[in-house]
Amino acid sequence: MPDLLKFLTCGSVDDGKSTLIGRMLYDAKLLFADQVQALELESRTGSAGGGIDYALLLDGLAAEREQGITIDVAYRYFNTERRSFIVADAPGHEQYTRNMAVGASFADLAVILVDASKGLLVQTRRHARICSLMGIRHFVFAVNKMDTVGYEHAAFARVEDDIEDLMDPFPFDSLEVIPLSASEGDNVTEASKNMPWYDGPTLLAYLEDVDTGVHAAESGFTMPVQRVCRPDSSFRGFQGTVATGRATIGDEVRVIGTATSAKIDGLYIGDRSVEEVVVGQACTITLASEIDVSRGNVLACASQAQSGSFFTAKLLWMDDTDLLPGKNYLFKIGTRTVPGVVIAVNHRINVNTGEHEQADRIVKNEIADCDISLSEKVAYERFEDNRALGSMILIDRLTNRTAGCAVIEHLIDRSDNLTWHTMDINRETREAHMQQRAATLWFTGLSGSGKSTLANAVEKRLHARGRFTMLLDGDNVRLGLNRNLGFSEADRIENIRRIAEVAKLMNDAGLIVLTSFISPFVRDRRSAEEIIGDESFVEIYVSTPLEVCEQRDVKGLYAKARAGELADFTGISSPYEAPVKPALTVDTSVESIDDAVERIVAYCEQSQW
Ligand code: ADX
Repeated sequence: MPDLLKFLTCGSVDDGKSTLIGRMLYDAKLLFADQVQALELESRTGSAGGGIDYALLLDGLAAEREQGITIDVAYRYFNTERRSFIVADAPGHEQYTRNMAVGASFADLAVILVDASKGLLVQTRRHARICSLMGIRHFVFAVNKMDTVGYEHAAFARVEDDIEDLMDPFPFDSLEVIPLSASEGDNVTEASKNMPWYDGPTLLAYLEDVDTGVHAAESGFTMPVQRVCRPDSSFRGFQGTVATGRATIGDEVRVIGTATSAKIDGLYIGDRSVEEVVVGQACTITLASEIDVSRGNVLACASQAQSGSFFTAKLLWMDDTDLLPGKNYLFKIGTRTVPGVVIAVNHRINVNTGEHEQADRIVKNEIADCDISLSEKVAYERFEDNRALGSMILIDRLTNRTAGCAVIEHLIDRSDNLTWHTMDINRETREAHMQQRAATLWFTGLSGSGKSTLANAVEKRLHARGRFTMLLDGDNVRLGLNRNLGFSEADRIENIRRIAEVAKLMNDAGLIVLTSFISPFVRDRRSAEEIIGDESFVEIYVSTPLEVCEQRDVKGLYAKARAGELADFTGISSPYEAPVKPALTVDTSVESIDDAVERIVAYCEQSQW
């Protein structure tokens, strides 16, 4: 049994959650002396009428105390003679779903509070659902405030039945229901004299005893490699934290996603050599034969873990800006970080009822079932079997903030049934045949800035020099391939993604491609660059100011936009984000088209295109 238990408490202020944990710490004499003194002092002036306000112990944050609610995740560490504990205390309101999810993602067990006089509430269902979603398989329901129902067995039995029904749809390894009163001290650390009909353990005794490690230790061994340690030429160790199972010297480990494997010939915890390592331990592994392993790889033995790039996942959204299908994010899984997109929101899951609702965008604190496509294969296992390799964090590429987290339900077969075929006639052979090097000149700028005029003139010059070219123009492509797309953010993302994929195909065909699209968002242009490859991608910023473009108003669209007849018009009612480091910048209000074309063609010549 691991000697550390990480648990989460779920409930709201009214349930007496902080009081419960505070009481546990106080009764079990788990406080430092100065904390006890501070507590007694503050309670005298606080809200508990001179009695000790145990909640003060848990409400770690100043703002919480002032508002009387818990607003973030507060972590507390304490020991009893039998075990060490870390308790995560997260607020229970719906608008703090993400905080509870963060707390749950770290915990092995959840203590869910229920008010005996009120029974199960909508929030109880929400708490159970979030914990289950985040992979908690051990549940304790603390049926609190038993004093307010006269310590009656019948009242408890009713709640207990309801809890069993509630938990029926969720997978769990252990479920315990304990009647108690946090304010009176019944069954928290000491067995209650008021409930002789109850012969189960007190909450603390139960937490000291419960074994949460069985499942993880029984499955196969997996360890994401965090670091390759090479202090000198004779030693090469792979360091990381064991995600599941155990490994022993002599075990044959494979590198997921490759055909290589090797025998373990050394295991270390710190600098101490050991025979075996188990789940949760940070260790160093050495292998008997030299194989290619680097940070981000996953070592595995007798495990179902495999590699894939296309998943169905449950996703919890945490960012202030909505989740948009098609937008590019970074996905961190294990020790790997790769770009990817949520390609479809299948449905939203109502956090309170579990019902599936139709949705095309997801806002903060919502949970959705989504399809995710990563740009590379990663080692993974279903979240149910492996919390570390079955969960991902989504990072916003511009703000670097954690925008959401997702747990993998299953692989979408498509990715495994599709493999990239390497053909004999490839880009190089086609380029050699055409005697040119392929590239994409990506013109970006406002409508009316002169992108199409420039691209057209540059193409004519390249053509005259015997180059094989292709021009992709916004209006033209939108009349064909992209005729089903409008100008919402999501549609623009998809517009640019398709153009980038087409440009890449044409580059593979050996052609020099010129694209002329407003492409107003930095991150979409960056995604395009990733698809096309940075060596072939040249960003040309047509920086003609808005006033000039509006004055020109060749298509009369600015006038329409100003009159409110055209929604989401770039520069007027939808933003344009200028390139940070374009290869070339052209302002057609101060430079003639001929001069600009000259510069662009010179750039191409220099690059030997
Ligand atoms: S992008 O933003 O998705 O890159 P794209 O370059 O394909 O735009 O298409 C822009 C062209 O569509 C403009 O030149 C204009 O003629 C036309 N258009 C029609 N409605 C809009 C709008 N709301 N915003 C911008 N362009 C629009």
